[in-house]
Amino acid sequence: MTSTLTNVLVTGGAGFIGSNFVRYAIGAHPDWHVTTLDKLTYAGRRENLHDVMDNARHTFVHGDICDAPVAGPLVEAADIVVHFAAETHVDRSILAAGDFIRTDVEGTFVLLEAARRNPKLRRFVQISTDEVYGSVAEGSSRETDELRPRNPYSASKAGADRLAYSYWATHEVPVIVTRASNNYGPYQFPEKVIPLFVTNLIEGIQVPLYGDGGNVRDWLHVLDHCRALDLLIHQGQSGEVYNIGGGNEVKNVDLTHQLIRLLGKDESFIRRVEDRKGHDRRYSVSTEKLRAMGWQPQVPFEQGLADTVRWYRENEWWWRPVKERDAEYRAYIEQQYGGRRAH
Ligand code: NAD
Ligand code: TYD
Repeated sequence: MTSTLTNVLVTGGAGFIGSNFVRYAIGAHPDWHVTTLDKLTYAGRRENLHDVMDNARHTFVHGDICDAPVAGPLVEAADIVVHFAAETHVDRSILAAGDFIRTDVEGTFVLLEAARRNPKLRRFVQISTDEVYGSVAEGSSRETDELRPRNPYSASKAGADRLAYSYWATHEVPVIVTRASNNYGPYQFPEKVIPLFVTNLIEGIQVPLYGDGGNVRDWLHVLDHCRALDLLIHQGQSGEVYNIGGGNEVKNVDLTHQLIRLLGKDESFIRRVEDRKGHDRRYSVSTEKLRAMGWQPQVPFEQGLADTVRWYRENEWWWRPVKERDAEYRAYIEQQYGGRRAH
């Protein structure tokens, strides 16, 4: 780390969005040195950073954001912190929420305390989620709307979101909070719906569609997310919240049909299973505030989805070992949802 470079700390940089952001940041900013801090949980993998691991402008630190002696000095040395690290899967938070509270809330607290001690910190990006608004029957959530999280994941994220804001309001830590919609793209762990369904279809296995399949998610390509974060790091205002949405609201059943078409399969590959507990029906964010700053998504959904499917087809080396290692969890989920048909 040389002092002429901007020191950017990325927590959770070995996960899905974090690794895409690290790769994007190193490419887009020749004057940045990126340090990844990641605990390498089941979701974090060195493989996600394989092509930047040895880059001279990248340092990888294997550590826990809850571990103040490890995380603190890294935050104190940073000019910019982009905080992705979290437990992120709703289904897992329904099974056991402890790690969500520890990492998403307590871990964020550890980072914010260290941020207070860093007078040269220019930006602390709290990566929150559109899920903090809860299920939205009509219209789109604005940044000023009430938060009504409905599952342990979104509640832990809402806690972190407001805790980060409080460190701006109380201690003037230069926090911005971003609330992105569902991301998709390469390197997403095959527990989330798109990579799970794509890899199942490649393997010739049925896909478990929860409930009536009418739940709606707004899909955002991960690179459009990275570009929005870049803009906000530079032009966001401390203390502000920014929604980031792809503008692609799709019912799960329609998404499933699109994937089946792309993979050359048929309806018989859909298995209707019991619904997720407390399943949020719809998320939708207004992105007016961000668009007024000049951002708009660049990746059309059809193209992004086709590219993503191709990536999983071409990178079996990446997902096959993960699915094998994760077989125990999937068997458990299968038992929870699989045995009981929805209809
Ligand atoms: P992910 O599960 O793929 O990756 C999470 C990363 O955090 C992993 O590398 C994991 O090892 C690391 N991590 C977990 N606990 C840690 C700890 N205690 N210390 C250090 N590292 C730890 O998640 P993702 O989908 O890339 O999401 C990244 C962030 O974006 C999260 O904060 C999530 O809430 C938010 N987000 C995700 C989406 C989405 O659609 N995936 C949408 C909006 C917001
Ligand atoms: P997911 O990828 O888990 O993201 P989130 O719950 O954070 O939005 O799920 C996306 C949608 O897909 C959600 O409505 C639940 C649904 N889903 C299924 O129907 N089957 C599955 O096996 C999974 C994992 C999700």
